Amino acid sequence: MKVTVVGAGNVGATCADVLAYREIANEVILVDIKEGMAEGKALDIWQKAPINLYDTHTSGVTNDYSKTAGSDVVVITSGLPRKPGMTRDDLIETNAGIVKSVTEQVIKYSPEAVIIVVSNPLDVMTYQAHITSKMPRSKVMGMAGILDTARYKAFLSEALNVSPKDIQAVLMGGHGDTMVPLPRYTTVGGIPVTELIEKEKLDVIIERTKFGGGELVKLMGTSAWYAPGSAAAQMVEAIVRDQKRVFPVCVKLEGEYGIDDCYLGVPVILGKEGIEKVIELDLNEDEKALLESSRQHVKEVMAVLERLG
Ligand SMILES: NC(=O)c1ccc[n+]([C@@H]2O[C@H](COP(=O)([O-])OP(=O)(O)OC[C@H]3O[C@@H](n4cnc5c(N)ncnc54)[C@H](O)[C@@H]3O)[C@@H](O)[C@H]2O)c1
Repeated sequence: MKVTVVGAGNVGATCADVLAYREIANEVILVDIKEGMAEGKALDIWQKAPINLYDTHTSGVTNDYSKTAGSDVVVITSGLPRKPGMTRDDLIETNAGIVKSVTEQVIKYSPEAVIIVVSNPLDVMTYQAHITSKMPRSKVMGMAGILDTARYKAFLSEALNVSPKDIQAVLMGGHGDTMVPLPRYTTVGGIPVTELIEKEKLDVIIERTKFGGGELVKLMGTSAWYAPGSAAAQMVEAIVRDQKRVFPVCVKLEGEYGIDDCYLGVPVILGKEGIEKVIELDLNEDEKALLESSRQHVKEVMAVLERLG
């Protein structure tokens, strides 16, 4: 299996590293526009192989997409990250142009690839990759839900003093402040979380999760990369190993949840065909209202993209 990661910055390099040391692909190609960046980081990851004992070969190229030909999966992380004071939506103008030109190159050399978008604003950049590639929705998806859910699980694990391994959860909606928490679908070792924590404490955790990305931007001056890179690698693994994993993924809704033609995070089954099934949960009225405000927000950002042409 061959996987390309476009963007050899913080998230892209972390994703390539996880793909390599966990031997998720046989070959990983890292691409960046900055001369020498992808070559250098890929070489560093490859030189780690004799220490960490893996044989996934990693190599890098500057903007030469012919080297990416025949990739099974392509992860797009190229684009500006947030700086303190910025929202994800502030990145739209620059990142839309980057995602568009990168997708054109990717499709030219790997017309069968599954594309996973990571660049922000996530839901709308995934839509951009979809309209540029003209690929079916099963093959163009965005990574956000695994990360948002992981943040929620990590905070819960600390609050309950239990292993993060035992927490099962799902969050839906757009990537950002309008995400839709679903505490009634959160369990700890099979026990509903609502039996283990007071509502007020859970509400605090949910609020912290919504602004989890911003918390890190404030601390580091740029956005996170370890968890985002690992989350993207987990999606690649589900596809290349045909694992049929159930993950929250940003996918184009075509009537599910009463929503049409909008990219939003919902639970799906991920396997070798990409998105093999969109799972439709029976949401209550409050959850439906939250999903609707998430949809409206994504549609507003999509309208900005359309105005940009
Ligand atoms: N979806 C999520 O949950 C999530 C989480 C974290 C970050 N992000 C987003 O991921 C993106 C990358 O974040 P980062 O921290 O790795 O940023 P970064 O600045 O460290 O890396 C971005 C890389 O993209 C490269 N690049 C720019 N234009 C390019 C082009 N046309 N072709 C190839 N490479 C190009 C840059 O040279 C740079 O190396 C940002 O948009 C960020 O907001 C999303």
